[in-house]
Amino acid sequence: MLLKTCLHSAAAALAMLGVFTAPVRGNESDCVSSFDATADYFPDKVESKYGSGFNITYTGNAKYIRNNISGETYVLYQCGTPVPADARATPADSLQVGNWTKVAAVPGARIVLDSAPASAALELLGLQDVVAASYHNFVVTSACMQKRLASLPRIQQRFDTTNRRRRRRSAGLVPRVAYDLADTNLQWTFTTYGMNDQRSFAVNPEGASDMLGKAEWIKFVAAFFNKEAEANKIFADIESRYASTKKSLAATTGKTLGIARYNKMANGTIAGWTIEKPEQWAVAGLADAGVAAFTDGPASFSSTGRFFDATSRWDILIDRSAEPLLHGGAVLPEWSNLVAGYGFNSSSSSSAAPAYLAAKAVYRSDRISSYQNATDYDEHLQIRPDLLLEDYGHLAAAASGATNTTWYRNMPLGIRVNWVSADDC
Ligand SMILES: *[C@@H]1O[C@H](CO)[C@@H](O)[C@H](O)[C@H]1NC(C)=O
Ligand SMILES: *[C@@H]1O[C@H](CO)[C@@H](O)[C@H](O)[C@H]1NC(C)=O
Ligand SMILES: *[C@@H]1O[C@H](CO)[C@@H](O)[C@H](O)[C@H]1NC(C)=O
Ligand SMILES: *[C@@H]1O[C@H](CO)[C@@H](O)[C@H](O)[C@H]1NC(C)=O
Ligand SMILES: *[C@@H]1O[C@H](CO)[C@@H](O)[C@H](O)[C@H]1NC(C)=O
Ligand SMILES: *[C@@H]1O[C@H](CO)[C@@H](O)[C@H](O)[C@H]1NC(C)=O
Ligand SMILES: *[C@@H]1O[C@H](CO)[C@@H](O)[C@H](O)[C@H]1NC(C)=O
Ligand SMILES: *[C@@H]1O[C@H](CO)[C@@H](O)[C@H](O)[C@H]1NC(C)=O
Repeated sequence: MLLKTCLHSAAAALAMLGVFTAPVRGNESDCVSSFDATADYFPDKVESKYGSGFNITYTGNAKYIRNNISGETYVLYQCGTPVPADARATPADSLQVGNWTKVAAVPGARIVLDSAPASAALELLGLQDVVAASYHNFVVTSACMQKRLASLPRIQQRFDTTNRRRRRRSAGLVPRVAYDLADTNLQWTFTTYGMNDQRSFAVNPEGASDMLGKAEWIKFVAAFFNKEAEANKIFADIESRYASTKKSLAATTGKTLGIARYNKMANGTIAGWTIEKPEQWAVAGLADAGVAAFTDGPASFSSTGRFFDATSRWDILIDRSAEPLLHGGAVLPEWSNLVAGYGFNSSSSSSAAPAYLAAKAVYRSDRISSYQNATDYDEHLQIRPDLLLEDYGHLAAAASGATNTTWYRNMPLGIRVNWVSADDC
């Protein structure tokens, strides 16, 4: 549709110049059947304005995207037009470590999911129908995506073992592995990591450096479907909601928030306590809610005494612990697990208790989760900083524990997990 409009206006422009060419038309799959080298095939464009971690440039029939988080370059060209002459796809069997250039025709129509934020972005864009398969181990929280995936094929990965030794030397790169799209008409997989796989594209809002940069990944996903106009509308709404929420929040509350976990082994032994370093976007978002993030991490402690010394002045503790199971896997901790894991006293009224205990301000970000242990924090939260800022605002404003949060679960007050299943769709 978009394309037809653009081609019509290109034809109109040519007609005005007294040149007549037969109108070019896209077909049902939005591939064009003839190529006009002078046409702007993507009249609606997106641009990354915040610290998203990607940038995009348009020329005629192609879009060039640099994903600075995965370290990859993507060249997307309009289906039915020639591959751009300067597109140098990294050969599929290349041993190159990172920095791959990947080339694909758009718009996508049959894609594979192995990225929770990509799933959330597709749903926001109304594009859930393009999901045609998912990776074997992929889990989502969204009830309707759970339902959709249940009826679709699951895709395996192929591991390249011949080059294993060579690969091992390259720190920071995921193993050489590709999705097995062989038997089907599938186009590519949306992933979390840059991979040595021509047909995979990484979606990385978790790597953005600021809050609105996270939401810009909606634009990134939209570019693969020529849905730039829709993405710009959605983003503008998020941007303005973010601004108005920020305006309504106190410039400072004097509160400090820290992130911690106990490190429990499968046999029940606690191997120590850790203060984590918050992501850059979280520090910025918390500042917008008037809260200072504790950034002197990561740090490890071998006794609760030292851990409490280091955290005693925190007003809010975000817990990231897991309760491992004896034979693999893990379950979400409840308050009783945290009391045991951190050695909190069951009566937290002691005057010596850390500030976050006195304030009943211990939270986990798993309030919306699926039975497969996916959490919406990794999914919708990653592209909805406007809603995340509201949660931060609730944490900031609460005098004795916030409960009106979307993703944060107040542990001392016993807020239950909202377990989402396909039946909720
Ligand atoms: C329509 O799109 C399909 C799918 O890519 C393509 O194979 C076909 O050649 C296109 N048809 C025309 C008439 O352009
Ligand atoms: C992305 O930005 C960098 C730095 O400004 C620039 O060198 C590069 O050409 C840009 N790439 C794309 C695809 O826009
Ligand atoms: C790309 O990421 C690196 C860190 O990995 C950072 O130093 C650099 O500034 C980023 N470049 C852009 C254009 O965002
Ligand atoms: C990544 O690849 C591009 C070409 O695809 C090249 O211009 C660039 O120098 C490479 N960067 C690194 C860090 O290897
Ligand atoms: C639990 O496992 C760890 C290492 O996996 C081991 O060091 C520790 O001794 C074990 N504890 C018990 C009680 O078995
Ligand atoms: C998810 O939780 C269930 C119990 O609720 C557990 O049996 C399973 O092992 C967990 N899966 C993972 C991958 O942690
Ligand atoms: C637990 O109680 C003891 C003694 O009442 C107190 O010294 C300690 O600080 C308390 N610890 C916490 C985490 O509340
Ligand atoms: C949420 O709770 C906080 C206190 O915990 C309160 O200040 C705020 O007004 C509440 N917001 C809404 C929208 O209910």
